[in-house]
Amino acid sequence: MRFLRSSTLLWSFLASLLLLEFCASMDSLNQSRPMSEGDTLISAGGKFQLGFFSTNNSSNRYLGIWFHNIPASTIVWVANRDKPLGGSPGSLKIEQGNLTIEDSSGEAVWSSNSGNLSSSSIIATLLDSGNLVLKYDNSESYLWQSFDHPTDMLLAEMKLGWDFKVGLERHIRSWTSMEDPSPGRFSYRMDIRGFPQIRLFESNTTSRYRSIPHFGSIQATNNLVFIPTLVYDSQEAYYSYVPHDQNTLTRFVMNYTGKLQRYMWNNQALNWTLLYELPSDSCDEYAKCGPNAVCVTVNSLQSCKCLTGYVPKSGQDSDTLNLWYSGGCTRKNPFNCSGPEGFKRVKKVKLPDLLQFEMINSLIQECEQMCLRNCTCTAYASTSDSRGGRGCVLWFGDLLDIREINDYGNEDLFIRVMASEIEGNSKRRKWVLAVAVVLSVASAMFCLWAFWRRRKGEGVRFNVHAGEQENFELPTFDVVMISQATNNFSHYNKIGEGGFGPVYKGQLPNGQEIAAKRLSETSRQGLNEFKNEVMLIAKLQHRNLVKLLGCCIEGEERMLVYEYMPNGSLDTFIFGTKRGSCLAWRRRLNIIVGIARGLLYLHRDSRLTIIHRDLKASNMLLDSEMNPKISDFGMARTFAGDQLLEKTKRIVGTYGYMSPEYAVDGLFSVKSDVFSFGVLLLEIVSGKRNREFHHTDNHFNLLGHAWKLWIEGKAHELIDARMEDSFPFSEVMRCIQVGLLCVQKRPEDRPTMSSVLLMLDSVSATLLQPQEPGFYMERFPNGNSIVINGREYGSNEISETQLQGR
Ligand SMILES: *[C@@H]1O[C@H](CO)[C@@H](O)[C@H](O)[C@H]1NC(C)=O
Ligand SMILES: *[C@@H]1O[C@H](CO)[C@@H](O)[C@H](O)[C@H]1NC(C)=O
Ligand SMILES: *[C@@H]1O[C@H](CO)[C@@H](O)[C@H](O)[C@H]1NC(C)=O
Ligand SMILES: *[C@@H]1O[C@H](CO)[C@@H](O)[C@H](O)[C@H]1NC(C)=O
Ligand SMILES: *[C@@H]1O[C@H](CO)[C@@H](O)[C@H](O)[C@H]1NC(C)=O
Ligand SMILES: *[C@@H]1O[C@H](CO)[C@@H](O)[C@H](O)[C@H]1NC(C)=O
Ligand SMILES: *[C@@H]1O[C@H](CO)[C@@H](O)[C@H](O)[C@H]1NC(C)=O
Ligand SMILES: *[C@@H]1O[C@H](CO)[C@@H](O)[C@H](O)[C@H]1NC(C)=O
Ligand SMILES: *[C@@H]1O[C@H](CO)[C@@H](O)[C@H](O)[C@H]1NC(C)=O
Ligand SMILES: *[C@@H]1O[C@H](CO)[C@@H](O)[C@H](O)[C@H]1NC(C)=O
Repeated sequence: MRFLRSSTLLWSFLASLLLLEFCASMDSLNQSRPMSEGDTLISAGGKFQLGFFSTNNSSNRYLGIWFHNIPASTIVWVANRDKPLGGSPGSLKIEQGNLTIEDSSGEAVWSSNSGNLSSSSIIATLLDSGNLVLKYDNSESYLWQSFDHPTDMLLAEMKLGWDFKVGLERHIRSWTSMEDPSPGRFSYRMDIRGFPQIRLFESNTTSRYRSIPHFGSIQATNNLVFIPTLVYDSQEAYYSYVPHDQNTLTRFVMNYTGKLQRYMWNNQALNWTLLYELPSDSCDEYAKCGPNAVCVTVNSLQSCKCLTGYVPKSGQDSDTLNLWYSGGCTRKNPFNCSGPEGFKRVKKVKLPDLLQFEMINSLIQECEQMCLRNCTCTAYASTSDSRGGRGCVLWFGDLLDIREINDYGNEDLFIRVMASEIEGNSKRRKWVLAVAVVLSVASAMFCLWAFWRRRKGEGVRFNVHAGEQENFELPTFDVVMISQATNNFSHYNKIGEGGFGPVYKGQLPNGQEIAAKRLSETSRQGLNEFKNEVMLIAKLQHRNLVKLLGCCIEGEERMLVYEYMPNGSLDTFIFGTKRGSCLAWRRRLNIIVGIARGLLYLHRDSRLTIIHRDLKASNMLLDSEMNPKISDFGMARTFAGDQLLEKTKRIVGTYGYMSPEYAVDGLFSVKSDVFSFGVLLLEIVSGKRNREFHHTDNHFNLLGHAWKLWIEGKAHELIDARMEDSFPFSEVMRCIQVGLLCVQKRPEDRPTMSSVLLMLDSVSATLLQPQEPGFYMERFPNGNSIVINGREYGSNEISETQLQGR
């Protein structure tokens, strides 16, 4: 208690210090208060700073914005990038509604050109997002904002793209060099002919890279660091992102080197970590293979392959894989619109660039017919989006910049071919060769699936068939990343051993703490089953369940990545002698109710009924505010497979928490979880383990002891003596009674979790009188047998049960 109070004092002291600093620095300027060189503005939350800066090799000075709260100087925006201040000091002023940079002679070197307004109530404010805005003091709308005029960097919430209403296009353009912010050669901007494609240009016109065109569901790939969005409607078309965690600093920059780079600030190493670069490989380079070819990756080697019906322009053998055909491919026989023709589906590719194309709003069958009718039409793909409606896009002429994409982009391309090219019945001999090639490509593709996903740090999209079909993205982690985060699964990072494998604490490059569960080999199942199960678990979201952040599948390695719970597990609090006294009754009750809520969700409110099967104090984790979160849920389901609600031979569970019907007969149901909950409740109230319970007077376990005290009318003796604070006696007694009701011998006598919550919540509900609990044991000193509810079992009789005592 004393500790808590003094730390509160410390915090309020620190907070007042921070407040002082914020009061001293300004985030705004107005007409009568210009900003001179040397002064800066700091955003209200202290994230960004605005001021004049110079690069080290020159006397040129620029007005810029940079991150304020990190040690690395990172310029995120430059106002006068092509008109630096030289010579004597300048200043930043608001003049007639314009934000202007003036040199010492009063000449404007840069202006926001935002208007001709003479109001004195216009202010310029640096927001915590890094946006410098000009607005009326009492207004929320902006007259001008720096986010509309990006330099080389896209910060969170900035938009790259178009505002059709005002005809504004926002794009990013590289600096000229590391030291020179003037507009450089490379730009990244949204092209909205047809559907949005974002292109990296060199010298304004030469495409160097093209994003995946977002045809159908406009949904960019998710990942662990940020959430991308792509908006395309009648008002706007833009790309934007926000970090998953507000404290994560991330930036997307058009580097002067010609690479697009995504960085994330590393709180540990205090430097920027490069997450990825675009173009990231040869296949990303724009039209690397030339026309009518697909860029493929085989065994980490990238090469080109002609589309079906096309041959290399240079006349090489089209079956040869490891060659760059910079000249591209050309039709074997030109279409003449009279021979029998059809379409070949090319699965999962980045669709060709929209050069000569037509958007059609009609049924896909009609699209096919339309394409066949026009001799220059070469391919089509279906589209479905809120704007264009369902329809298709037709391509005419050469097809450019196609690459295989294995994980996302479920777009298929239909290329036009001669009927003889579809599933040829001629040329059998050539087929044998082709089949061998296809097989080797297929297997290599499969191996590359994981590699490709890892390279981009992007999520995998799994399709779940659970009633309705839906897409859901679970971030995947790279095994190397998890390994680094946990010091190569170091012994020192191990924080526990769950039912299905060891758990390691780790820290991701962005500083986020995780708990990685490395599933043991014995708990292996098929890849697809595993993925489906993980998806189901990931969808279970409740404040009293530990959140699954993602998974990691690589070769034999299977890992689940959870949020890290700073306070560890409940057992260290209730059974540990040192910390036990910290838990006041309010805390304990809060934990009991929280666990009950989480369990109710698993049993009833989630779309599936999940039986935990291994509820115990060490599986109850505590967050920083001591709220309980159930861990290891759903794993029971994963590894029980379709045996759920049935009899199982392999009993997984923990000695002391298992219901009699489960431990003895292998039968389990939601009521087995209720039993374990009852044990847990009594443990929380008493501060003693059921399993290791010893009493000088008897050989009962905790349940037996509690029952004995209850019928003797001395149940208060069960209450943890270390609970020093005062507590409502009746409330604790009610809890004990609920606990005993939960551990009834017959499953049907135990309440459901919803009645448990009702009983815990309302003082007025009358509780049933508990009967003798199930599975209370008497041990015999020789240890060879135990008595369970009066029946004696030899130790060999329960040896088939896999007991995991801890
Ligand atoms: C401009 O800002 C200064 C300093 O914050 C303040 O004292 C002054 O009243 C402001 N002037 C107007 C017109 O708002
Ligand atoms: C710029 O200055 C810093 C230190 O002042 C130095 O480390 C860096 O090498 C300089 N860069 C160039 C390009 O001169
Ligand atoms: C510094 O400036 C000089 C002259 O302006 C130029 O020759 C030199 O390349 C510059 N160095 C760097 C590192 O930008
Ligand atoms: C302010 O901006 C307007 C255009 O919006 C421009 O005509 C005017 O010259 C600017 N004034 C100054 C002082 O830069
Ligand atoms: C700005 O407004 C004033 C009157 O409000 C007008 O005299 C002046 O011509 C305007 N300037 C421009 C550039 O529109
Ligand atoms: C690229 O466009 C910008 C303005 O849009 C122009 O200032 C610049 O000169 C152009 N660069 C080249 C190499 O054409
Ligand atoms: C541009 O890339 C280089 C090399 O990758 C890196 O050192 C530099 O920091 C990058 N510039 C920015 C603005 O991120
Ligand atoms: C960041 O710091 C770490 C540790 O100090 C170092 O290993 C790493 O190379 C640094 N990365 C960059 C990009 O400077
Ligand atoms: C069209 O092409 C096919 C195959 O190349 C050929 O058999 C047929 O004779 C051609 N028809 C015309 C009218 O050229
Ligand atoms: C085929 O489509 C192209 C592109 O839309 C068009 O220019 C051409 O006129 C069409 N040809 C025929 C015969 O319809």
